[in-house]
Amino acid sequence: MSEIAARLAELKQLGLYRRTRLVSGPQGPHVLLDGKPVLLLCSNNYLGLADHERVQAAAADAALRWGVGAGSSRLVSGTMTVHRRLEQRLAAFKGTEAALLFGSGYLANLGVVGALSGAGEMVFSDELNHASIIDGCRLSRAETFVYAHNDVEHLAWGLAQAGPRASLIVTESVFSMDGDVAPLEDIAELARRHRGVRVVVDEAHATGCLGPGGRGAVAEAGLDGEIDVVVGTLGKALGAYGAFAACDAEIAALLTNTARSLIFSTAPPPPAVAGALAALDLLEQSPRRVERLQANAEVLRAELAREGFDVTGSSTQIIPLIVGDASTALRVCEAALERGVFAQAIRPPTVPDGTSRLRLAVMATHTKDELREAARVIGRAALQAGFRPATAMPVAVAQEAARAGGVVDFAHEADAA
Ligand SMILES: Cc1ncc(COP(=O)(O)O)c(C=O)c1O
Repeated sequence: MSEIAARLAELKQLGLYRRTRLVSGPQGPHVLLDGKPVLLLCSNNYLGLADHERVQAAAADAALRWGVGAGSSRLVSGTMTVHRRLEQRLAAFKGTEAALLFGSGYLANLGVVGALSGAGEMVFSDELNHASIIDGCRLSRAETFVYAHNDVEHLAWGLAQAGPRASLIVTESVFSMDGDVAPLEDIAELARRHRGVRVVVDEAHATGCLGPGGRGAVAEAGLDGEIDVVVGTLGKALGAYGAFAACDAEIAALLTNTARSLIFSTAPPPPAVAGALAALDLLEQSPRRVERLQANAEVLRAELAREGFDVTGSSTQIIPLIVGDASTALRVCEAALERGVFAQAIRPPTVPDGTSRLRLAVMATHTKDELREAARVIGRAALQAGFRPATAMPVAVAQEAARAGGVVDFAHEADAA
């Protein structure tokens, strides 16, 4: 057996093997998955804009006007007008002086963290931060202090130990696998007390999903103007592809000069940029989409609770059902699929050992009846897979259990996510 075959066999044996499934059609509430019709309950197309006719038309039109590709990095062949227009609109949406587009959220986090910290400095990163933030910390060459999830006291302690080396606090606002929200006011207050420490907030799952008009958790917390860089993505609620960093003009200039993932990577494709512009128009014209998303999340949470699941950890459109062991999570996922509901199983290293889960992601375009039925299906699927919903762990308990098992820096240390 080759070394690669042995590694793959080991992943299979641990229940950690991954494969992609084939989806026919757009990321709507219903898809054909490997040829079978299912309710899609794990896409980040939260507002259903990825295949909205106005977004599609804008992307198609942009392909005809500006071409499909951007040609090169904007530092080489220039910023296209469509990029500039979206940056101005995003800055206005987020209430910042500037916004800078990146190729993806992954690239944005790599670039932003690397630009704002370096060798000899210390970055403070929440233990449940996304892999792109973790990789940004690694590439920055700064030392990383991983604080316990949403634990402001731990963060404060770390900042006090670091003294003048502390350069950056980085957190997601809505956590991608847990659906909980970071204590942003407390984090901003700590940064205020530690002069020179900057704050980066990744609003990948908050932009378009919460806050006034979908402006995100930073706006919801009344922190406009107090966060140094807000990272947002275009590939989730905004239905396109790409990302942005919203910040002041000085930091934007720093990013343009030092963010390697901006400088050394082709600008986002014009159709995606124009699609995101159209999605932003739709969001601003009809913030009720955000209300519908939140109302749908409430319905699904309530119905899952009736099935016996503990869903108290989530307050957003992302609802984790923590099963524990990776193989059981896979079995529940497969049993739900058999009954027509696709809710992906999320396993280590994306989440800590022992906290494998189904990550449910609600869309504004689901009907309430579909969500009620999905909860029943998942309840039955869990039982069929030998898992009693009442033993599902609340997020905080699962995290504590992972820590007690000595798994503290799981994702920050794992090879992939
Ligand atoms: C919190 C968070 N940040 C960044 C990203 C990366 O964004 P993108 O998919 O645009 O690369 C993700 C992707 O899922 C994410 O969950």
